[in-house]
Amino acid sequence: MDLQYFLCWRVAPLFLLMPHGLQCMSVHVLNEQPVHVIPGSSLVLKARMVQGPLEEISMVTWEREPETGIDLVRVTLATCPGSSLKCPGTRPNVHVNMEQQETTLQINGYSRADSGVYAVTVTDRTGTNTTAHCIVREYEAVHQVSVSINVSHSSLVCGEAWGTEPNFSWLYERAAIPQTVGKVSKDGTILVLTMTPICGHFTCMVGNKLGYSSATYTAAPCETESRGTTVAIVCLVLLLLLCGGVLAFLLWRRHRHSNRGERLHEHLDDGF
Ligand SMILES: *[C@@H]1O[C@H](CO)[C@@H](O)[C@H](O)[C@H]1NC(C)=O
Repeated sequence: MDLQYFLCWRVAPLFLLMPHGLQCMSVHVLNEQPVHVIPGSSLVLKARMVQGPLEEISMVTWEREPETGIDLVRVTLATCPGSSLKCPGTRPNVHVNMEQQETTLQINGYSRADSGVYAVTVTDRTGTNTTAHCIVREYEAVHQVSVSINVSHSSLVCGEAWGTEPNFSWLYERAAIPQTVGKVSKDGTILVLTMTPICGHFTCMVGNKLGYSSATYTAAPCETESRGTTVAIVCLVLLLLLCGGVLAFLLWRRHRHSNRGERLHEHLDDGF
């Protein structure tokens, strides 16, 4: 139980006779911040309002202003009397819903221009305002993935420019990273290499709700592997040549034997 709540419900009645005694009204946005919205989808912001026993909400206002810039123009999205359940927005795609303790702002067909700092203000009968803020940004695709090597720490570092909630993963020669090659850091951005010397292709893949992008770091070709392959091919060729030679020799010998046999037959025929 927080202090304000305690003061409002236990102490406020004692101040019944004091005009504008103790302000108990509060409002806070329930969304986890910052809120990221995919363009074209809907932005839904929920705010919880808490009023003291002696207070009554007379008005709820939703507004927005740019997050950065010099000219911070405040735009009113909706002004709702505390008593009505539905209240019209100032634009066709803006809808506000009012409940006893909650107000919901919905903007359909979200676009970049809808990004900014949203403010929900609750006004009580005495004209006292309480405001809560919420940062809303566009959900952006992954951009400009790159992999660089940190030679001194034998690690590969994957970077990405401005995508929302990027998710990093690594591949070695287009397959999962074997333990003999390296270990990926907890956040996924660094691949600490355990293999020596470093060779082959390392790919960093970065993805989010809007898709994937990747970059590959190409180290020197893996020598042992390529030398091994060469040796294997040479051996195979030699083996084939040897087999071919033996086969040719056997055929030649058989051919000579049968020739000699024929000649012997001929001599015998002549004799009789
Ligand atoms: C290499 O990594 C270490 C440890 O993460 C870091 O302190 C250092 O600045 C990095 N060097 C370069 C050139 O990025």
